Amino acid sequence: MSNRIHHPQLLQRRMGASEAAALIQPGDTVAMSGFTGAGYPKAVPQALAAHMQAAHAAGQAFKVKLLTGASTAPELDGALAKVGGMELRLPYQSDPTTRARINAGEMEYIDLHLSHVAQYAWFGFFGDIDVAVVEVSGILEDGRLVPSSSVGNNKTWLEQAGKVILEVNAWQPAGLEGMHDIYYGTALPPQRMPIPLLRPNDRIGEPYLRCDLDKVIAVVQTDAADRNTPFALPDHTSKAIAGHLLEFLDHEVRRGRLTAQLLPLQSGVGNFANAVLAGLAQGGYRGLTAYTEVIQDGMLGLIRQGVLDTASATAFSLSPAGLEAFACDIDFYRERIVLRPQEISNHPELIRRLGCIALNGMIEADLYGNVNSTHIAGSAIMNGIGGSGDFARNAYLSVFMAPSTAKGGQVSAIVPMASHVDHTEHDTMVLVTEQGLADLRGLSPKQRARVVIDNCAHPDFRPLLHDYFDRACRDSYGKHTPHLLGEALSWHQRYLDTGSMRIGG
Ligand code: COA
Repeated sequence: MSNRIHHPQLLQRRMGASEAAALIQPGDTVAMSGFTGAGYPKAVPQALAAHMQAAHAAGQAFKVKLLTGASTAPELDGALAKVGGMELRLPYQSDPTTRARINAGEMEYIDLHLSHVAQYAWFGFFGDIDVAVVEVSGILEDGRLVPSSSVGNNKTWLEQAGKVILEVNAWQPAGLEGMHDIYYGTALPPQRMPIPLLRPNDRIGEPYLRCDLDKVIAVVQTDAADRNTPFALPDHTSKAIAGHLLEFLDHEVRRGRLTAQLLPLQSGVGNFANAVLAGLAQGGYRGLTAYTEVIQDGMLGLIRQGVLDTASATAFSLSPAGLEAFACDIDFYRERIVLRPQEISNHPELIRRLGCIALNGMIEADLYGNVNSTHIAGSAIMNGIGGSGDFARNAYLSVFMAPSTAKGGQVSAIVPMASHVDHTEHDTMVLVTEQGLADLRGLSPKQRARVVIDNCAHPDFRPLLHDYFDRACRDSYGKHTPHLLGEALSWHQRYLDTGSMRIGG
């Protein structure tokens, strides 16, 4: 495995994960690599959790503040959450144990726009970063680092942290080398200059991460797989949602508002995303591009078929089968895929310039187009805003999708008032459920409400929504965005009280 480490001094700093983890102190702010279950450190976090458990058993407190790129995996978030080892977590998580601890009030969580994280660190809003733990796939003779299957915030962590622990993972394909583009031209205002990226596949940086080698206190060798969630085949609802969206895109092409190559696609992860991607291939689209966060199996397939020319992201999120296909053909994909720091993959300046088509999931939307992506009943976090806000606010076309009901049909995804707002009515352009699509562009609030109810709400909830809206139009304090304040969130309260938003359960 040492053939991944070509720098003689760093070879000398190899040690076991437990020894390396022992260099992390209680109360430290620790910044780790990892984005959507890819490129996270696998050995040191588990060893750290074991040290924490031992300390807790001895009656000593041992927690850290944990920063990453985005979500990680059971070996990182899961392990630390299980032992109650995090006092603070940011900027995104999707781990069930972490979620439970946050919602039980046992730890703090800061849910941040992913494009903001690096600059917040530079502005000093997180305080000093004591240790960075970063997975790489190799170390060159001159000490430059070959990034792994995600880039995330690694550039910033390596620059900002006082000490660095490197995990060199021999499991990562060696052929990843050359696929990354690390841009070193960012600056703090007022020194900022335009970022010179004009097309999704432009390379504006260098393929390696730089690191002050004097800061490297440990090098740990691993040979362990990324999370590799199996690929979920689109179900009936996802296919219906994708169908409405594809019809809409065809319509936009016919109207001349989009060309046949559309515009760079941003696609959230999950079932809808996969279904939309599959639909694009069947719809005869060719020569498309993606400027997005994560490359899933669906995108690899599209690149293979020539539907997608190129894709830019900050991470992979591949199933075992997707990974095998990728690794077999890595030279082909290296020509067509660029992995960047998340401050670039999600940069508002670039998203606005490129005119992305942003496709993201939601928990609920209200009559006026305010979207909740993050909270159940206004107070319990699900995952986090992730990159959805970076894209939604700045995209050419901002689309949110969800099934019209959740929890076995007891909960409506279209509600009178969103119980938490991540994306305001000013950012949402299109809402889609399996019932249909609401194009909100150019509509006033009251016009939007009618389209949202008629096109997106489940038929079982439509009469209730119409009734609320009609009474609000009559009795609301103001008639611009009609609401009955005493009733607006009663649907959520009913759900908490009875397990259903339906009247009478
Ligand atoms: N009320 C109560 N629960 C709801 C709900 C609602 N309105 N809508 C969804 N849920 C629950 C589901 O029942 C499910 O719970 P379960 O795991 O206990 O079954 C859970 O929320 C996830 O919903 P699911 O239908 O499986 O959707 P998903 O996996 O597509 O995730 C989001 C939807 C919104 C949670 C997800 O897209 C997300 O985290 N988005 C924010 C970040 C983002 O957009 N990232 C991409 C940007 S690049």
